[in-house]
Order: sequence, then structure tokens, then C-alpha cells
Amino acid sequence: MTPSELAACFPTPDAVPPEHRLPGELHQRHYLVDGRLEHWDGACKPVLSPVCLRGADGGVEQVPLGSYPDMGEAQSDAALDAAVAAYASGRGAWPTMSVAGRIECMERFVQGMAKRREQIVRLIMWEIGKSLADARKEFDRTVEYIGATIAALKDMDNGHSRFTVVEGTIGQVRRTPLGVVLCMGPYNYPLNETFCTLIPALLMGNTVVLKPPTYGALLFEPLLEVFRDAFPAGVVNTIYAPGEVVVPRLLASGKVNVLALIGSSRVADFLKKQHPKSHRLRAVLGLDAKNAAIVLPDADLDLAVRECLLGALSFNGQRCTALKMLIVHRSIVDAFLDKFVAALGRLKMGMPWEEGVQITPLPGPHRTRYMKDAIEDACAKGARVINAGGGTSLCTLFQPALVYPVREGMTLHREEQFGPVVPVMDFDNVEEALQYVISSDHGQQVSLFGRDADRIGALIDPLVNQVCRVNINAQCQRGPDVFPFAGRKDSAEGTLSISDALRAFSIRSMVATRETEDNKQLLNGIVREHKSTFLNTGFIL
Ligand code: G3H
Repeated sequence: MTPSELAACFPTPDAVPPEHRLPGELHQRHYLVDGRLEHWDGACKPVLSPVCLRGADGGVEQVPLGSYPDMGEAQSDAALDAAVAAYASGRGAWPTMSVAGRIECMERFVQGMAKRREQIVRLIMWEIGKSLADARKEFDRTVEYIGATIAALKDMDNGHSRFTVVEGTIGQVRRTPLGVVLCMGPYNYPLNETFCTLIPALLMGNTVVLKPPTYGALLFEPLLEVFRDAFPAGVVNTIYAPGEVVVPRLLASGKVNVLALIGSSRVADFLKKQHPKSHRLRAVLGLDAKNAAIVLPDADLDLAVRECLLGALSFNGQRCTALKMLIVHRSIVDAFLDKFVAALGRLKMGMPWEEGVQITPLPGPHRTRYMKDAIEDACAKGARVINAGGGTSLCTLFQPALVYPVREGMTLHREEQFGPVVPVMDFDNVEEALQYVISSDHGQQVSLFGRDADRIGALIDPLVNQVCRVNINAQCQRGPDVFPFAGRKDSAEGTLSISDALRAFSIRSMVATRETEDNKQLLNGIVREHKSTFLNTGFIL
């Protein structure tokens, strides 16, 4: 596409379909702390959409969506203090509430959230440029995730609703909260990935300081009153402030017990070091990834191209699980590239509300600039853009580029591009492909394409010890959410899945006594008279 064809992808103000417009700019002036929606009349941060509008002169400009509070240290300290007070050293209403009671609050929350579906979906679409279909999917997947997490918690808790007698000791074991969780999600799945840590953290009885992502902050606004009404005061607190100013300070206070961050390993490493007693900080981290696809000589090429295209370019390649390097056997690389170019040509670029759209605008011109620089670097070092028009951009819209041959020393070889650039390398001996994965700083997933059981089998064993999921003849992905989502090296810390996340945000604690008649009577009395929330044999249905 030429720049003027790209410009034509952006609508004029009148051409935005009325049913997809936002009702107006959203100027958020409140935030949730200690169970109150506090008014903010200080400085605010303007929000621009990835979507641009085309003016009469043909120029394009990002749509202003509104603004949100640009707070500072005092407000983030207050949010932390409220979470600490609500936890009250484990004696607060929330950490001591019965599991059934917490589930009731969560169900109230999800009912309120579901009522705001249309508004939140529309904000996801406008704030991060995700297609309407994918924004709806993100919302619905999150609601399903909450339901499944509640069901897993019931199962887990019911399994613990019993005494165990071993070698003369009677014990009851349950999972208990860890304290205050600082929860920060990413812009690419601002709702889903934030909630994948927030929801299990809450259900396990922790209190939370939530910092919405920079792109995707406004979409939390409709939820603030839902949080306030569903949970006791101080259980959910929000901060809207520059991360680099307030987050290291929050950690340095020593009052954060769990850092739940979906972001970069560089930031995670820095933050962890701020905590004065690092052993007291648990980290649940989803970090960088550079997942590779290895396409073997006997691969079904149509299938491999279809999956690699989806894997590399769904949501413009802005997924942590995206395929960010394609390693193709030299004997088939030309045929692979031809088919890939043809498939690229059929991808629809456009605005997020358009039916069937696959490539949408990026968060800001800084992202298109990064993609351009990475391509220029590769081309200066011997690669070329294979598809006509690949890499052309206008403001936030970037035509996907297939870049080949990518080699060591190019930015695209190792850096996570997180965007619509598809680097391709070739190999003669599969050991070269294996070495790429082994020498990588990342260790999330890999995709293998081929049909030969000997070849695939021989690759599975070394690869499962390098990454945490080997996908065969399929792109990399996180779901279904019951499967473990983890990573080695710089890609993650801890495992998330519906049930693993409940474990990540809790620790086992137990009550134990010697098996004597007096102690049995004492335990029975406590259970029968409901004298303890922890020590009980009740069943949640
Ligand atoms: O950005 C990382 C997401 O967790 C990926 O999830 O594979 O379902 O797109 P997904």
C-alpha cells in the first residue's frame, strides 16, 4: 500500500459508523481508594486512540478519547496504606472472610461487570485498537475465566475441608492469603491479563493495589464503582500515576507482598530489587517472549503458513505468545515465503470495527517508528522486505512486513518486536534451529511444523526443557486457560492457569494437634460451633 492508500484506511469524522462511536470523551476525575471514589482535580493525562481521523486536507490525527488522573506519590502511598489497612496483618474483614463469602462478593462483582460489557468492549477497541470481534472475545473470555476460577476455588477448598491424621498428628491444611498484591497488567490484553492475576489474588483473600496499563486505563473507569460496591473497603485500590515514579517507591516501602506484573523482564528485575527484604516478595510475572516456529522440510506448507500468519500477526503481533521468529528449512523456504506473501496480501487492514479486519492501528507513532527502524537495521545488514509495500506506514497504521533472511546481529534476530514484522531465518540442519531456542534469553513456547514422528519426537524432548509449551502444527497460544501458562529464563516467573493462579497468590497454612481425646473434643467443638473460619469441614456447593 502507498501512504495515501494507508491514509484512506482512516475514516473521516463522519465515516465512523454511529453504532461504534464513543458517546463522547471520557474525562475520568476519580479513583478508588479505601472503598471511596475520591475526586481528583490535579493534572490529568490525555488519552489518544490508535485510531486516526482523516481531515479535509488528507492529514490524519489520533482521536482524543479523554483523560485520567495523573497522580503522584502521595496518592499511590494512600492506595498502598488502604490495602495494608484492609489486610490488617491478616485480620481484616477480607482475609478472614469465609471462602463462600469471598465468592459471593466476586459473583456480585462479575454481575456488575457484565452489565458494562458494551461500554468496556468499546473502550478496549478505541483505546488499544483491538478489533471489535477480539475486544468482545477478550471481555467474554475474562468473564468465563472468573467463573472458572470460582469453580476451581470451590473444588480446592472443598478438598481441604477435612482433617488428616498422620503418625498421631491431626491436621487441617488450607491455602491462605499472602498480603498486599500490586497488580499491573499489559496494554495488549488490558482487561484479561490484568484480571488473570487480580481475580485469583482477590479470591484468595489478598488486598490489592491495581495500576491500570498506560494504554487501556480508561476502560477500568466503568469498573471502579463495581469494585467499590462488591468488596469491603480497601480491598481494591487504584493508582493512576507514572509507573516509574510511584512503583519503585511502593516496592521500596516493603509493604507489597506480591508483585503481579505482566510486562518486561527489565522492569521486573529492577522492581524486585527495590524491596528491602527480597525473600518476602513473591513475584508472579509474565514477561518478554520471542517464540519461534520451526518449519521442517516435510511440513504441510499451507497449514504452516496459515498458523504462522495467525501466530505472527493476530492483533498485529501484539501478543506475548506471538510467533516472533520463523525458522524455515532451506529446501522449502522459497515456497513458504511465496505462500506467506500471498496470504499477507489477503489480510484486511482497517479500523477495529470493520468486519473481518485483521491489521489495525498500533498504540502510537512511536511503535510504527520502532518497526521501521528494526526493518531498516535488518535491510542494512543484508535482509529485505519480501512482500510489496511491507513496512509502509502512516502515523499509527503499519503494513505488515515479511523480512528475510534474518541473521544474528540484526535487531529482529533477538529483540521482541511486538508488532507486525515477521522475521524469517532459514536452516539446513535442525540443530541450528534448536540452537536458536537454546541460546535465546526467552523460554515461553515454540511451534513445530512437520509430519514425521521421528523428527518431531526427537525435537520435543530437548524443547520441553527449553520452553514451557511445544505446539505441534499449531501457533503458540496461552489458552485454553486450564492449561499451565509459564515461561523459563526471561519469559516468566511462576505459572498461571485457572488453578495454578490460585496457588500463586496463596500459601498453605495448617492447624495441627496431637491425636488425644481432649484435642479431638476441642477440634470437634470448634468445628461444630463454627468458632473458626479456617478450621471447618463445611462444603461449598
Ligand atoms: O499477550 C499474551 C497473552 O497472554 C496471550 O494470550 O495466546 O490467548 O493470545 P493468547
